[in-house]
Amino acid sequence: MSASPMNVGIIGCGVISTAYIRGAARSRHIHIKSVADIREDAARAQSSAMGVGYAAIDEMLADPSIEIVINLTVPNAHAEVSTRIIKGGKHVYSEKPLTVSVKEARPLLQLAAERGLRVGCAPDTFLGASHQACRALLDDGKIGTVLGGAASFLSRGMEAWHPNPDFFFRPGGGPVLDLGPYYITALVNLLGPVRTVTATASTGYPTRKIGSGDRAGEEIAVETPTSYSALLTFESGARFSLDASWDVWKHQRSPIEIYGTEGSLLVPDPNFFGDEPKVTERGGDWQAVDISAFAFGERNRTLRTGREVADHRSIGVVDMALAIRQGRPHRASGELALHVLDVLLAIGRSAAESRVIEIGSSCDRPPPLSPGLDETVFEVFDQPHPGKVA
Ligand SMILES: NC(=O)c1ccc[n+]([C@@H]2O[C@H](COP(=O)([O-])OP(=O)(O)OC[C@H]3O[C@@H](n4cnc5c(N)ncnc54)[C@H](O)[C@@H]3O)[C@@H](O)[C@H]2O)c1
Repeated sequence: MSASPMNVGIIGCGVISTAYIRGAARSRHIHIKSVADIREDAARAQSSAMGVGYAAIDEMLADPSIEIVINLTVPNAHAEVSTRIIKGGKHVYSEKPLTVSVKEARPLLQLAAERGLRVGCAPDTFLGASHQACRALLDDGKIGTVLGGAASFLSRGMEAWHPNPDFFFRPGGGPVLDLGPYYITALVNLLGPVRTVTATASTGYPTRKIGSGDRAGEEIAVETPTSYSALLTFESGARFSLDASWDVWKHQRSPIEIYGTEGSLLVPDPNFFGDEPKVTERGGDWQAVDISAFAFGERNRTLRTGREVADHRSIGVVDMALAIRQGRPHRASGELALHVLDVLLAIGRSAAESRVIEIGSSCDRPPPLSPGLDETVFEVFDQPHPGKVA
């Protein structure tokens, strides 16, 4: 990798943009040159708050020194904005989901391929220490052949904390499209692609009350299901149950459990990078899995609840920047994101149409990060962390 960092722009200066700007500041390989937004005031405010440049969207896309543009707009705008970025001659890295339909995602990947440009997509949490340690353990056959498992992400929803939560409760929102990318990406990284999906869905509450920000107290209509139960069959033959809901106050279920012929594995929350997995061989006591040899497990963020977590969001962009320079595939790829999106949308479609859906897309598992071996990625965060993300 050359000494000079790759210049990167950001379109979309909302809640998540701060984490990206802080994350990028920890890498010597990328530099956030400017930020833009459809709302000029939002981009100017973020530019001065975070000490990065401001640009109008067209200015950013015409800037020859910028190679990657990160799309942090709302899901319904992802396809339009990412297409504009590709047409502007830049590689794009999008927040999840890649788009809100496979019909939009395929031409986007096609256009990028025709122009020799990369499409990358969040989540990149599967690159974190906990998920890479689980991947190594499964690939080493520690729990034998994976027969099945369970995944669940259950909570009360997003309106309590997000100042503009409308998009979560509209078509294109809901728990499956919002949090599902973390879980399905983690499962595809661990087990490979999904072959079939069947699901049911319901809506727990017709309205939600915004709990923070300028609009606190305002009621918004719920226009998408907020609870899903699904069954996934992987190409490997493994079967998983998946429950996703924003109608649950409290529960005692693990994020991901994997059952193999020789043991079971508890995979930590795929929204973060560094929690501790647990494994049991043939029904013995649960043993903590040592993740310390893997990169990106360091706890660097305090959640509102006080919980300390590892959050290295943006390492997917850094891996893409390095991959472009090194002429190798990047890990958080458009192909992976398209397959994940296909599975997520199939969950909704199966529930709406009461039928089993065969998944049309497939993808390769992203290459793993071996402990201590992938120095180019390992060195990315060797600079001191500038502080906690609020
Ligand atoms: N908020 C989180 O904690 C979080 C975490 C992980 C991922 N994400 C994902 O990140 C994305 C953004 O989420 P957020 O919470 O920051 O949303 P947000 O609503 O806070 O911000 C989105 C920003 O995009 C801008 N925007 C919308 N349409 C645009 C367009 N066509 N062109 C340019 N700018 C446009 C808006 O003006 C706004 O400033 C979503 O895809 C979301 O799923 C959010």
